[in-house]
Formats: sequence, C-alpha cells, structure tokens
Amino acid sequence: MSNRNEAELIHMFKGIPFTTRSSPELLKSLDTFDAREDDVLLVSYPKSGTHWLAGVITKLYNTQVTLTSPIEFGDISKLEELNKLSSKRIIPTHLDYNMLPPNFKNKKCKMIYISRNPKDTAVSMYHYYRENPNLPTIDTWTAFFDLFLKGDVVCGSWFDHFLSWEEYANEKNILFLFYEDMKKDLPKIVKQISLFLDLNVNDKDIQDICKKSSFSEMKNDTEKENSDPNHTVCALTSNRKLIFRKGTVGDWKNHFTPKQNRRFEEIFNEKMKLSKM
Ligand code: A3P
Repeated sequence: MSNRNEAELIHMFKGIPFTTRSSPELLKSLDTFDAREDDVLLVSYPKSGTHWLAGVITKLYNTQVTLTSPIEFGDISKLEELNKLSSKRIIPTHLDYNMLPPNFKNKKCKMIYISRNPKDTAVSMYHYYRENPNLPTIDTWTAFFDLFLKGDVVCGSWFDHFLSWEEYANEKNILFLFYEDMKKDLPKIVKQISLFLDLNVNDKDIQDICKKSSFSEMKNDTEKENSDPNHTVCALTSNRKLIFRKGTVGDWKNHFTPKQNRRFEEIFNEKMKLSKM
C-alpha cells in the first residue's frame, strides 16, 4: 500500500495489515483470551455481510445476549471488558483462523463464518475505503483492485482468510454461510442458523426476523438511529451509516473491466485450486 496517511492508520501484525484501531498490545494478548463455552463467534472477511448476519442472530434469541464489538478492536483493556460481561456473548471478528484465540477452538465454541463473492466484496471494500476516515486514501478503483488482489488491504488477502477457515468448515461447531444464499432465500438460512444455535424458532418468527433484517429496514433503522449509531461489528469504523450501501449481488459488473475480470478469475482459480467449495 502506498498512501499518504497509511503509516498513521495501518500497522502490520503477523504479516496482516490492521488499522490502529486494533492495538498491537491487544493483538498480542489475544492468545490468552479466556473463551466461554457458550460464546458464539461471528466471523467474516470485511464487507461480507457481517452486520446483516449480526442483525439476524441477535433477533433469534429471546434471552439476554450481548453483541460485543469485534474482539480485535480496541486496546489492551478489551479482554477485561469482555470478561466482565455476564450475559451470553456474540463476538464478531475479522481474524483469520490462525489468529483466533486458541481457547475458542479448544472449547469448541460455535462459530458462524459468512463469505461473499470476492468480486462484490472487493467493490464493497473499495467504497468503504473511500468513505471511511480510518482507512488509507484510495484514488481509483484500478489502484484498489491491485491492492485487493495482492492482499495489501486491511485484514490481508481474501483468499488466505477464506482458505484458513474453509479448512475447518466441516467441524460440527462451525457453520459456513454465503451472502448470496441469504439474498436468495433468507428464511431458509435463518432456519439453518437457528438449528445450528439450538434455538427453537417458529416459522412466523422467522418470517418476522427476515422482514426486520431486510436491507431497507436495517438501513432505515440506522438512519433513524433506532439502533445504536456508534456500534458496529466491524473493527474498521464505529459509524453504522457507512455500512448500508447497496446490498446487492453482482455490483462488481459495474466496476470490473473485462480485463480485470479475466485477471481476477485467473488468480481466483490459482489460489482456490485446493478449495472444496
Ligand atoms: P455493499 O457495500 O455491497 O452494499 P459488512 O457488514 O461485512 O461490513 O458488509 C457490508 C455489506 O453488506 C454492504 O455491501 C452492505 O450494503 C451489505 N448489507 C448490510 N446489510 C444488508 C442487508 N440487510 N441485506 C443485504 N445486504 C446488506
């Protein structure tokens, strides 16, 4: 990355770019984090539909749950803050599998990974970079496209992130979801999530949750500040208004040139040749 203000905004940890909103001390201390067996992790590469999924999950519970800020967001006081919560914790994270606090793995906590077509993810991230003062300045789509393919963006390479999690996709405590499937048949996916979380939710409630989780409802809620405008599940901003942009599948077609598409496909096929998905 070669931007003006990059040095102030980005630091590297274990070879992955993080914003300064994730302190190096916190990142170093993650290995000691004490998970609870009933923690639920909501995992994603940025711009994959994390807020949408978080909206659905929190509505599924009729008991007290706390949707925390991302585990990697903040300074060293973060872990203590999480330790103090008495209710069940839904903990978002953009960490790749290798950086996840080992205690979550040992305790077999439930983890839901949401993924999205990386072409749409790249476009969504490009707009996020442009709007978000916590991220380095990006001049053009062409420049961002190259950075994305090199993995020279916050949270590193989309491919590495996906592959690190995919390796564990068949574990019983991990549920893999796709943004596109949520767009296609949200009730079906909400049902799947409720079964995975051992929640008994009837069809009427599922319909209701889907209605309240539509793009327009969630965007309106944020604009009317029905939900806390200073609370996001993304470690890269606290401004919810930056999250709800278009909410569609295939916006990449409005950005990729045919040449960029060919290059993306080539790299995708190469990097994903070991992927089972
Ligand atoms: P776009 O930028 O393509 O619009 P994340 O929550 O991981 O940051 O992902 C943000 C992306 O999810 C944005 O994509 C946003 O519009 C989309 N999104 C958020 N809520 C949504 C919803 N209820 N339905 C569909 N897409 C949604």
